[in-house]
Amino acid sequence: MKIAYLAYWFFKARFLARQAPLQTVLFINNKCNLACRHCNIYARSSSITKTYQTVGEELLYSYRLGARFVDFEGGEPLIWRDGSYDLNSLIELAKKIGFYSTTVTTNAQLPFDGCQADSIWVSLDGNRESHDLIRGQGSFDKLTENIANCGHHRLSVNMVVNTLNYHSLTETIEFATDNAHICSISINFHTPFPGTEDLFLDFETRNQVIDEVIYLKKQGRPIMNSVSGLKYMKDLNFEKRCWVTNFIMPDGRRLAQCQGLEAGVCQRCGFCMAGEMRSVFQFKPDTIFAGLKLRG
Ligand SMILES: C[S@@+](CC[C@H](N)C(=O)[O-])C[C@H]1O[C@@H](n2cnc3c(N)ncnc32)[C@H](O)[C@@H]1O
Repeated sequence: MKIAYLAYWFFKARFLARQAPLQTVLFINNKCNLACRHCNIYARSSSITKTYQTVGEELLYSYRLGARFVDFEGGEPLIWRDGSYDLNSLIELAKKIGFYSTTVTTNAQLPFDGCQADSIWVSLDGNRESHDLIRGQGSFDKLTENIANCGHHRLSVNMVVNTLNYHSLTETIEFATDNAHICSISINFHTPFPGTEDLFLDFETRNQVIDEVIYLKKQGRPIMNSVSGLKYMKDLNFEKRCWVTNFIMPDGRRLAQCQGLEAGVCQRCGFCMAGEMRSVFQFKPDTIFAGLKLRG
């Protein structure tokens, strides 16, 4: 069923030029228990927490557009509540509507051993020193403790490489490789949304980082990005297909693609999904394999 839908979606997108999302990034709040230096989402003043009903309507909207995978984002998804509803209630609701799989992206500052998402992405921004510099003192140790105790069998980490942490890339990949609770690591680059431009890595350094990631992947490290997709991220000189994911923002705005477009930062985009999508549409086998592994 899932494979048939993926094939149907791909055929329509690739050969009939139909631009419908396959995945939804749904921001359920912008309230957070951290104040990360690179983040443009969390509320610095008044915060928003969507109701269960609003999230339900947004899930239905995305499903009707064609999306079958949903990533619950924030703010911090683990702190979301609406009366007796919690994050697992939203995961159940998404499944009931028909989404094939649910993902949660979290800073792992709270225990999440009961989380029922199909996969969990924990944001890990470097070694202890870099991570704490970006995300706050003590956040690395809390993250490792909660990862060790969560018992989830599909947990991966995501590193966003920036000017403060690029020197700890190799150490971070080795940490993920050696940690028995982590399945894989994905690498992204800082996207310079307004107010965070100082964290943007120049392209020369980015390209060196990409070469190192490719080298480590070829050495067998569990890196989620495909080699083909990473290569596209070097100069960003390709036709973007960011409509593969629709975004529903904390304030309810429904975007047909990443908020980077309206912020005018696509030429300095760091979201490696852009390169991966380009690769999929070019039929690069390593990217298709990586995608199926992710969505399997
Ligand atoms: C906005 S956070 C929200 C979820 C959760 N609180 C967390 O920290 O993972 C979601 C992901 O976006 C990444 N992110 C935030 N700002 C970014 C930026 N400017 N460029 C690239 N990734 C960014 C974070 O590192 C994190 O992995």
